[in-house]
Amino acid sequence: MALYSEKVMDHFLHPRNVGEIEGADGIGEVGNAKCGDIMKIYLKINDGTVTDVKFNTFGCGSAIASSSMATEMIKGKPLEEVLTLTNQAVVEALDGLPAHKLHCSVLAEEAVKAALRDYYKKNGIAYDHELLKDTTSCDHCEV
Ligand code: FES
Repeated sequence: MALYSEKVMDHFLHPRNVGEIEGADGIGEVGNAKCGDIMKIYLKINDGTVTDVKFNTFGCGSAIASSSMATEMIKGKPLEEVLTLTNQAVVEALDGLPAHKLHCSVLAEEAVKAALRDYYKKNGIAYDHELLKDTTSCDHCEV
């Protein structure tokens, strides 16, 4: 069996939603201290819905595929749904990632959460701190 699924290869070779959004409503930047990869996600939010999303990832193929898939999963979705995005859902949508690459999908979940936190803070909107917990400083990522 190939190490990477066809979907991972497709999103790595043809990533969707790459770039930046001028005047984004929420921006989330996260990094993994161990591998050095960095991911930045931009959200445009209108009426409680993610109307546009872009990303820039300086990182491995799995991180690029994870960010591409995560942006596809949240585009056009209401915030209540975006809030529940997990790295497991991204991995499933990609038809799996090798165990030693799971942390790359965690980065995508963390980047989306960081962008949401940024949006809520900028607009003075109360949010569930437990749901949007900042875990980027934790040391759980195995590389
Ligand atoms: Fe660091 Fe993939 S995000 S190796």
